[in-house]
Amino acid sequence: MGKDTLTVTDNRTGKTYELPIADNTIRAVDLRKIKTSEEDFGLMSYDPAYMNTAECKSTITFIDGDKGILEYRGYPIEQLAEKSTYLETAYLLIYGDLPTKERLDWWANRISRHTFIHNNQVELIQAFRHDAHPMGILISALSAMSTLFPEAKEVENAEVREKQIWRILGQIPTLAAFAYRHRIGRPFNYPDNSLSYTANLLYMMDYMNQRDYAVNPVLAKALDVLFILHADHEQNCSTATMRGVGSSRVDPYSALSAAVAALYGPLHGGANEAVIYMLQHIGNVKNVPSFIERVKKGEGRLMGFGHRVYKNYDPRAKIIRKVAYEVFEATEANPLLEIAVELERIALQDDYFISRKLYPNVDFYSGLIYQALGFPIEYFSFLFAIPRAAGWLTQWVEMLNDDEQKIMRPRQIYLGHTKRDYMPIDDR
Ligand code: CMC
Repeated sequence: MGKDTLTVTDNRTGKTYELPIADNTIRAVDLRKIKTSEEDFGLMSYDPAYMNTAECKSTITFIDGDKGILEYRGYPIEQLAEKSTYLETAYLLIYGDLPTKERLDWWANRISRHTFIHNNQVELIQAFRHDAHPMGILISALSAMSTLFPEAKEVENAEVREKQIWRILGQIPTLAAFAYRHRIGRPFNYPDNSLSYTANLLYMMDYMNQRDYAVNPVLAKALDVLFILHADHEQNCSTATMRGVGSSRVDPYSALSAAVAALYGPLHGGANEAVIYMLQHIGNVKNVPSFIERVKKGEGRLMGFGHRVYKNYDPRAKIIRKVAYEVFEATEANPLLEIAVELERIALQDDYFISRKLYPNVDFYSGLIYQALGFPIEYFSFLFAIPRAAGWLTQWVEMLNDDEQKIMRPRQIYLGHTKRDYMPIDDR
């Protein structure tokens, strides 16, 4: 085994440099030693969209995109989906280890004690138009929380941070349910803290004073599994946003609302919504081949397919596909499922998708389940954001505790005009 260094020769000057390698990485700032003259700024690396740049060191989530592996704190996602609950998984992410029975009870109690939202939030939700997109409501409601809990600004105080985490995980489902009830013009149901995390959400959304009302445990369990699968996914667009905005030391509510905004986009968490519109647009299994041909010609994307990191079947999609069939046994089958299965079958045999390593991702089947559970399409991204809050907050705390992190501030390559003098408007 040779040395853990990289030797580079700058052919502009003929000088050779030895750069240390640690964790299979060179430090971008080490490139700055490579200069053509003393005045030269030094070499930078150019990496649009962070295709090959590690922005942090992390101990939270491990992904091997080539092998299709996803682990939270070392635990395989398949085992967590089968054996854990969302609240236990959120604890695992935030505190680093699985809880004992006592700690889990304590944790569930901490969260359920923070499920009631401030009346200001109720009024805020009511101020939106009846057809306001729920993600717009969530972004606003989260940022409004920073005005209700101004002590959250003390981001260096671990105790203060922990309290905001309980509040956020407790209140997000209530915000989701209230936003939904506002949309359908029904009175709000306040949280029932005797129910599980997902059962409480379903209760707050659905309950209409029926005497014999009970949350369907199969559906609550299916939603809980989906929440586990969505809880974290290392440095994706919204998590990088959480870390980036949080690096300014703003309060967690403001950073979280920025992360939710990033998630809202159709290339990220908004894809589950886009998949349903795509399936509705295809309309019938017989239209699948012509749709695939259009995608191959570049006339649109196969939504729910492809991933920056996974170049193999997304392990979450495999679990979701199974959950979908379980849910459809308890509800009515979703007619769009047939189209989705056919799309997947054809795409996985087609050279366009094979050569680009495009496989179904987490969003391909999740929307079908949400639809079967009775959620309106616009709520799908909200259902991604609720569980991801645990991941965003864990990553935020890790960033704040990391001595190497500072305010995020990328460099640029300036290619604009060189200096020119201002010309009065009449002379232009
Ligand atoms: N349908 C058709 N072609 C695709 C797709 C797709 N869904 N995804 C990528 N490609 C093609 C792309 O056109 C390009 O082809 P070429 O090399 O000929 O130009 C090649 O595959 C590489 O694509 P890319 O855009 O460079 O890949 P990326 O890593 O920048 O994009 C992605 C990743 C997820 C944004 C992209 O695959 C995509 O747009 N997928 C559809 C949207 C989607 O499902 N998003 C959810 C992501 S998973 C949930 C989450 O964490 O957000």
